[in-house]
Amino acid sequence: DLLQQIERLEGLFTVPQEKLKAITDHFVSELAKGLSKEGGSIPMIPTWCMGIPNGHETGTFLAVDMGGTNLRVCEIVLPDAKGEFDIIQSKYRMPEELRTGTAEELWGYTADCIKQFIEYHHEDEKLDQLPMGFTFSYPVSQEYIDHGVLQRWTKGFDIDGVEGVDVVPPFEAALKERGVPIKLTALVNDTTGTLMASAYTDDTVKIGCIFGTGCNAAYVEDCGSIPKLEHMNLDPKLPMAINCEWGAFDNEHIILPRTPYDIIVDKESPRPGQQSFEKMVAGLYLGELFRLVLLDLHTNPEVQIFKGQNVDELQKMYSLDASFLSAIEVDPYENLQETADLFSSKLGIHVNKPELELCRRLAELIGTRAARLTSCGVAAICKKKGYTSCKAGADGSVFNRYPHFKARGAQALREIFDWPSDLKDPIEVIPSEDGSGVGAALIAALTLRRLKEGN
Ligand code: BG6
Ligand code: GLC
Repeated sequence: DLLQQIERLEGLFTVPQEKLKAITDHFVSELAKGLSKEGGSIPMIPTWCMGIPNGHETGTFLAVDMGGTNLRVCEIVLPDAKGEFDIIQSKYRMPEELRTGTAEELWGYTADCIKQFIEYHHEDEKLDQLPMGFTFSYPVSQEYIDHGVLQRWTKGFDIDGVEGVDVVPPFEAALKERGVPIKLTALVNDTTGTLMASAYTDDTVKIGCIFGTGCNAAYVEDCGSIPKLEHMNLDPKLPMAINCEWGAFDNEHIILPRTPYDIIVDKESPRPGQQSFEKMVAGLYLGELFRLVLLDLHTNPEVQIFKGQNVDELQKMYSLDASFLSAIEVDPYENLQETADLFSSKLGIHVNKPELELCRRLAELIGTRAARLTSCGVAAICKKKGYTSCKAGADGSVFNRYPHFKARGAQALREIFDWPSDLKDPIEVIPSEDGSGVGAALIAALTLRRLKEGN
């Protein structure tokens, strides 16, 4: 019966304390492997963002933030006063079709939005070339800060002809074609941007995290601790922000407790075998996992939930997103009336009481597993760096909007570190909303300052 099924799902999706600890320890060694000459699954990309802003960055910058759901264009003025900035910004939708369209459409659309922004805010002004920080949140290999070769698309993007090439020249060409007076100064990951923006206002922040459509983190290493950069003879004490791209953790399936549903998500994705960790924790996949479990329980002849009903909608891949689970988790009614309404309006399915209870528990299980597993990554960076007390600045739709995500993540950190219960959490993940635009502007400012100072 359904109670038995709930127990089975609890067994599959629960990550107990000992497992959290084991995952964290393996994560630490995989972070180190990614920095080694031989390399590992986690890319651990040196970003050439060297140093943390000191508050004396000044100037006017454009920041363009190409996320999975939105394209944000911001103009940021940094006055010479620590932690302060003025910002104007516009949000544009990233049309769904762009994800799988052509490279020309992607860069053309982005350049059009920037052009529109400049024309709106600087009507009839003659502009000098504005420096731009471009937040491009995919794994790119960088040899210098204003270039980047896309290693591979993640988060469901699948555009031909971009992987393996430098993304900057075609983007600049699209801007030039439209006569937009902009110079790309820094290409930045959203995690690095979030780290820089949070550290600018709070120097106890050592990690930048994104828990959104995708999941990833950045932190600062000394060049002396990055063996794969040894050949460059950099000053070992120089700081270097590392974009971990930890979504690729455990691509070899050694430690993560994958369920049969995780295996299907991976198989049916545009890039099977990649982003193993991300596929268990990121917003893009939470609704899909939920859908796959329900579909399985519908087709299983011994269970047959939603018996005799039309499940066409439920059969569509990615027809449910993380906001569907969020809504179930916040349903305040004991009879789960809102959940029932949601199923009938979105999927055309009438759900009975025991099924509703199963759905609620399943949403909790999937959401809790995601929060707990991501804490292993945060804990691993702290362990690797020897941080016993610090903050991580976090952004992204899951962190900001998924119910209980923060509390569940904090609980997992307590279990990993065994902090005494009367101690205030020494390591905390705090919100840093919309920081990555400011972060990209700060990085552009830092880069210009470094260039001016000649190093
Ligand atoms: C935004 C940041 O707020 O969050 C982006 O500005 C980041 O840089 C995004 O990519 C991540 O969240 P989501 O949910 O849009 O993937
Ligand atoms: C994916 C991307 C990574 C990004 C993260 C969060 O993991 O590969 O670059 O930081 O999503 O947006």
